[in-house]
Parts: sequence; structure tokens; C-alpha cells
Amino acid sequence: MTGIVIAIDGPAGTGKSTVSREVATRLGLAYFDTGATYRVATLACLTEGVDFAVTSDVAAIVATMNVELVLDPRNPRVMLDGEDVSRQIRTDTVALTVSKVATNLEARPILQEMQREVIRMERDGGMSKGRGVCVEGRDITTVIAPEAEVRVLMTADDEVRVARRSDEGADLATVREAVLGRDRRDSAVVSFHEATDGVHTLDTTHLTIEEAVRAVMGLAHEAAL
Ligand code: DC
Repeated sequence: MTGIVIAIDGPAGTGKSTVSREVATRLGLAYFDTGATYRVATLACLTEGVDFAVTSDVAAIVATMNVELVLDPRNPRVMLDGEDVSRQIRTDTVALTVSKVATNLEARPILQEMQREVIRMERDGGMSKGRGVCVEGRDITTVIAPEAEVRVLMTADDEVRVARRSDEGADLATVREAVLGRDRRDSAVVSFHEATDGVHTLDTTHLTIEEAVRAVMGLAHEAAL
């Protein structure tokens, strides 16, 4: 018996991280934020002082960086060279640079393979002891885990997404650029605004977190039957 994979994608501010963590917690699954792999790769490149325009240099760092992911949904962490960098990967510097790694077509396949490996491990063992994983990120339902038992595309109106992020702190112009500008740049390499066949769309514009969590849990129960 192998574990279940719940794959959730969609743009920033739709609630996908909060919902994924909560669903993973309630179902005893690992929680895997694939965006964190792009973020830690960006931090590794910034630390090395690499020129992001030299795509092969970026890819070389990504291929050799020493990253460990802790997939506990109650306390997910990212380690780089043994140091907990969970906070550093959320800084504006990383947020405004990460698209350079996400759109690097040499670095991207390396991270994608790392992500597939994590998912494979959680199906059979890993942190979840084989119960499975709730994995989120923009190309998860289409490219990384098209075989996932549950695939959800979370959406929400642009202004609601910006408002949700600005509630977390920063000023509106920075948030608008971080949310909408980044979506625009990332759209060059990943399509995450339209659901493909077999992917459920969940519009969270008018939903509370609890309602969104229940909707995903409902799909997981259906898939397990
Ligand atoms: O979800 P996030 O904001 O942490 O994502 C960080 C960046 O990584 C963002 O530019 C989108 C990109 N990303 C991606 O291209 N594919 C994924 N599966 C996850 C994130």
C-alpha cells in the first residue's frame, strides 16, 4: 500500500500554503512546499554572489547545494549547509529574485527531479511513514505529480490575493509587485492559471481557510474510496 499524494497549485495569495499545511496535519501527511526549493536555491546563489544572467553557473550551484527539507506540517523547515534558513528564504530580497531561478531552464529540471524524489520517498516511507504527502507549487498538478490522487488548482481574484499578502505586513506597492509581477514573470515557464483535465478548481475568493480545507479533505476522501 503506497501513500496518497495531494497536489495543490495556483498563484500566490490563494491560500495554498495554509490550506496544504492544515490538510497535511489533519491527515498525517508530509507537507512539501516546492516553492521553498526555488527560494533556497536563490539564497544559495545570492550567498555565492553568482551572476544570475549566467544560467549555467546558477544551475551548477543548484545541482551541488546542500539542502535538507523538514516536511513536518506543524513546523516545516529548510536547511542550507546545516543552517536553518526558513526565515531567510522569505525575505523581500529572495522573493524579488526567485523568478530568476524559477525561469532558468537549466536549474529548473534539477529542482523538479529533487521534488519528484521527495514525493516518491513519502509514498513509501519518509517523514509520513508512507502515508503520503500534500505538495504545493505551481507546476505540481501538471508537470511534477500528474499521477497524484488529488489535484487541485486554487484561484482567487487578483485584488483579494494582494490584500491577503499585505495583511501579512509589507506595504501595498511592494506586495502588488511581489504577487502580480512575479506571477507574470513565472507565467513564462509555468502555466498555473487554468486547470487541465482531472484537476479540480477551487476558487477561494469568498472562502474561509476552514471551508477551503474541508473542500480539499472532501476530495481526498473521495479519492481514497
Ligand atoms: O510559492 P512561492 O512564492 O514560495 O514560490 C517561489 C517561486 O518559485 C515563485 O517564483 C514561483 C516558483 N515556483 C515554481 O516555479 N514552481 C513551483 N513548483 C513552485 C514555485
